[in-house]
Amino acid sequence: MEPLLELQDVSVQFAGLEALAGVTFEARAGEVRAVIGPNGAGKTTLFNVISGYVPASGGAIHFKGEPIHGLAPHDISAKGIRRTFQNGGLFPELTALENVLTGLHVRIDSSFLGIVFGSRAAREAEREGLARARRLLDLMDLGAIADQPIKDLSGGQQRMVEIVRTLATDPPLLLLDEPVVGLSPPMRDRMMEIIRRLAGEEGIGIMLIEHVIDLVMSGSDVIVVLSSGQMIAEGSPEEVRQNREVLEAYLGHA
Ligand SMILES: Nc1ncnc2c1ncn2[C@@H]1O[C@H](COP(=O)(O)OP(=O)(O)O)[C@@H](O)[C@H]1O
Ligand SMILES: [Mg+2]
Repeated sequence: MEPLLELQDVSVQFAGLEALAGVTFEARAGEVRAVIGPNGAGKTTLFNVISGYVPASGGAIHFKGEPIHGLAPHDISAKGIRRTFQNGGLFPELTALENVLTGLHVRIDSSFLGIVFGSRAAREAEREGLARARRLLDLMDLGAIADQPIKDLSGGQQRMVEIVRTLATDPPLLLLDEPVVGLSPPMRDRMMEIIRRLAGEEGIGIMLIEHVIDLVMSGSDVIVVLSSGQMIAEGSPEEVRQNREVLEAYLGHA
């Protein structure tokens, strides 16, 4: 099967600092791929270069076989690579469901067919979107609070709503930057279980940046380890656990 996302020798420089150097990997549909590494290793920069928020200074990025490096963030998003940010950007006065629908309108409003054929296609898309939004909120155990304003929800619930909003558009590839940060241990486990289901049942390719090593070890198929902008390891949790260089990178920064 063709890889969903391919990075070939990707580098990013910030005024002399090499934040990423020669990163190469292939991510697949239905796979949970964790990105780990010490602070400043280049994890967020990796997501930024994939999603077009920072330019690559070298190398190539392909999504579904098409080059995407050099495209603007909204064009990359429109191709189906969606991401969450460390600080969400939900609308506090709107309900959970309404917030999820704001994510959908990006797609509905920009639909050429929706504009030309008016209403029918658009209404159809909207109905489907609403059904999907409700289903995803239920999946996250958020069905009961779907109609409550965001500002009344716990931090963990808000984070889940943010992820649902991103998922409502049915993206082929989802980039999650620290999806469980600030969640209680049971919520974390629930979140990882949901992430696994989205990959397994919906076939979404998921990349996530994560610090909680237990979760990464139990919840991902592949782990990429960054250290000072270099990819020092890529492999199954078992392979990465036994990698001497990885242990040194972590112990060295402990
Ligand atoms: N926009 C930027 N401008 C200049 N330097 C940056 C920028 N973004 C990140 N950096 C630097 O690049 C390195 C990697 O940062 P980052 O990708 O945020 O690391 P991580 O997410 O792994 O903690 C750090 O040294 C950071 O200071
Ligand atoms: Mg970061």
